[in-house]
Amino acid sequence: LTTASEDVARLTRWADDFPEPGVRFADLTPVFADAKAFRDVIDALVEVGDGADLVAGIDARGFLLGAGAALALDAGVLAVRKAGKLPPPVLTREYQLEYGTASLEIPADGIELAGRRVLVIDDVLATGGTLAAAADLLTTAGAEVVGIAVVLEIESLGGRSRLAGHPVTSLLRV
Ligand code: PRP
Repeated sequence: LTTASEDVARLTRWADDFPEPGVRFADLTPVFADAKAFRDVIDALVEVGDGADLVAGIDARGFLLGAGAALALDAGVLAVRKAGKLPPPVLTREYQLEYGTASLEIPADGIELAGRRVLVIDDVLATGGTLAAAADLLTTAGAEVVGIAVVLEIESLGGRSRLAGHPVTSLLRV
């Protein structure tokens, strides 16, 4: 295990049956709250983002990681929001949840995304629906997704297969 992986393994707080029965929730709050672990995690996440000029962080915990990574890369940061948080015009991509659907949005004007080299960051890769929607949104807007980086990957859910075509890095696989 790398230093960052060790930090994540040691500090992640696991909750059974949250937010609903049958789900085991990985709470990374203690990882982010530890100065050394947060630094280690950011340093490891940006390794896949070589040449990125924009970091897209996914609502909500991806915002924290994305801002840290953007500073480390000397890149801008883009918050990929859950539906209804941004004023129109927006680009929207719907994705599948365990029950029902949700949507992610980015501004459709005000940011020139064509030709931008984007590193997409989130805390957890589970089924991959969220990250696939985010990558699709950015690609549709004309950006190039140069990498996808997450702290934790739940391998049994097979999310990585939905992100084919993009380099995906995860600091810890469980
Ligand atoms: C969690 C997590 C990822 C997503 C991963 O967010 O932070 O964004 O689920 O799941 P997937 O790979 O199956 O799509 P959640 O949807 O719980 O939203 P939140 O950040 O607002 O809590």
